[in-house]
Amino acid sequence: MDKYELFNKNTQAIIHGFQADAIQRMLDFDFVCKRSTPSVAAVVRASQEGAMEYHKVFWGSKEIVIPIYKTLDLAVKKHPNADVLINFSSFRSAFPTSKEALETDTIRTIVIIAEGVPERQSRELIEIAEKRKKIIIGPATVGGLLAGAFKIANTAGTIDNIIKSKLYRPGSVGFVSKSGGMSNEMYFMIAQNSDGIYEGIAVGGDRYPGSTLVDHILRFEANPRVKMIVCLGEVGGRDEYAIVDAIKVGKVKKPLVMWVTGTCSKIFPAGVQFGHAGAMAGTDMETADAKNKALAHVGVIVPQSFDDFGDRIRETFERLKSEGRIEPIEEFTPPELPMDFNKALAKGLVRRPTDVVTTISNETGDVLTYNGVPIDKIIREDLSIGYVIGHLWFKKELPLFAQKYIEIVLKLTADHGPAVSGAHNAIVAVRAGKDLMSSLASGILTIGPRFGGAISDAAKYFKDAHDSGKTPQEFIDYMKDVIGINIPGIGHRVKSVQNPDVRVELLKEFVRNNFPNHPYLDYALEVEKLTTVKRNNLILNVDGCIGICFLDLMENLDLTLEEKQDILDTEMLNGLFVLGRSIGMMGHIFDQKRQRADLYRQPWDEILYTTK
Ligand code: ACO
Ligand code: LMR
Repeated sequence: MDKYELFNKNTQAIIHGFQADAIQRMLDFDFVCKRSTPSVAAVVRASQEGAMEYHKVFWGSKEIVIPIYKTLDLAVKKHPNADVLINFSSFRSAFPTSKEALETDTIRTIVIIAEGVPERQSRELIEIAEKRKKIIIGPATVGGLLAGAFKIANTAGTIDNIIKSKLYRPGSVGFVSKSGGMSNEMYFMIAQNSDGIYEGIAVGGDRYPGSTLVDHILRFEANPRVKMIVCLGEVGGRDEYAIVDAIKVGKVKKPLVMWVTGTCSKIFPAGVQFGHAGAMAGTDMETADAKNKALAHVGVIVPQSFDDFGDRIRETFERLKSEGRIEPIEEFTPPELPMDFNKALAKGLVRRPTDVVTTISNETGDVLTYNGVPIDKIIREDLSIGYVIGHLWFKKELPLFAQKYIEIVLKLTADHGPAVSGAHNAIVAVRAGKDLMSSLASGILTIGPRFGGAISDAAKYFKDAHDSGKTPQEFIDYMKDVIGINIPGIGHRVKSVQNPDVRVELLKEFVRNNFPNHPYLDYALEVEKLTTVKRNNLILNVDGCIGICFLDLMENLDLTLEEKQDILDTEMLNGLFVLGRSIGMMGHIFDQKRQRADLYRQPWDEILYTTK
């Protein structure tokens, strides 16, 4: 790279500080300029403990990852070709991080974005940069760009402005200003009145910029690809007089069109600061008028006002063209940057099928709603868990007796001691050192057709038998001879006629007292009379009672036939046992943890070892 060049089409930067938007804007610029490699090599993100090691970004419509390092040293070692540091550190840490970059062997240009860097620190950085022959752009800058090649961070604003200002390919004009905001406007004005920017730099508005207007004008003077120079000065300071001096000694010969803003400052008392820290006229010399006059005096093309700045640029450009000093440039239509999906969606330009349909709750609004009922209503009106299950499971506001029934079922099924298979497995798991979720899962996975998971089947089989007019005996025979399974809801390992299950008694009592009628329960009790003749433990068990009484409950709800069938087919009734019994299983898990119970191993005397 020639010494007057800071950037080219292969320039890569390290970004100090995590700036997702700025990085994406740089890569989008790369894309429209048809760069072959991304202009961001790495990110340094010192503060983030356990930070992600990669930052995912779009490269056109594809995604690529950019490595993130905790230190600049590591980033520089891994990416020696990255010779630009764009330093987003705050004014508090801009000095040490910029100093560290200046002291590396590979970083050549440091861009300091922060405003408010203490002047003493800026001057010390300038000294180091001069010694190590490095360039600082800033502080208090947005940076700059080499058209068609490399853009610093957010320079030039949106991709629309970049396209409008033709920054995706090099023009013939070298531009430098103090103001980043004005630079964006100037890029467009120059594109309107010439073939566009070749390179644009904003040196920043501090009183001691790392590089000055004349530094970059001299670079443009030395660069054969720059045919004319445009500069926007500013009231305050004396940087513009360095340009006058450079012209006087013949260091700047290319046509220079320049305007110093702040001519309005003369109507304010001296010392009024305009925007930048450096934009304050301390003496008459530092006023915009004085500077514009001095520049015009040495042959700089100075418009009457900012309003005819564009005309002067156009006249100069056309003259150079007529003298054959400007070749027509290679125009091309930049590739269209894919629109971000969310933006396109917001504009209604794209649509995407959803992957999940939910009809029971919505957490996207201000207030969480269960089936449309705001959570604050449920809490403030002290509505029951049966009410909540009604909405989240059945999508209904259940009448009070139904809410109550559900709550009774949850209480009755909460636990049945450590010996039952579900609790046992949960206990064995937690004693094997498994965590709560795994131990609970072990218990829940035990629930099935013989233990806790017979509720839905009991409801289905008893409903079919009753509704089809089978007598209880016919039903028993049908289950044995045709279906060939034990009747779901009948039978228990320890409960019997002589040792009734109080839970079943309590459920029957509630139903008889609160349900307008209960034909299915009555039918089941007739079946139980027959089965207990065979064996005293073939009673209507708690699974059976829950499921069969729910049939009676459904008869008293305004449910369609399809809704009733859905309740039976979707295992909602088994869900009542899962929900209830999870309470007890977790109780056993906590109990074993509390006891610090050790690994369980089944005693040998409980096992018959036989080789038969
Ligand atoms: N329907 C018809 N006959 C049955 C039933 C039943 N539900 N349960 C057992 N029998 C019969 C068996 O066919 C067997 O008859 P046989 O001697 O002519 O061969 C006899 O009763 C003994 O069978 P076992 O399986 O030894 O009886 P056990 O007491 O071990 O069974 C169990 C208890 C597992 C609950 C059983 O009754 C059953 O599978 N029931 C259906 C599933 C069910 O409802 N489970 C929920 C239980 S409650 C809960 O988990 C919360
Ligand atoms: C239970 O609720 O777990 C029981 O009815 C099963 C059992 O064996 O006690």
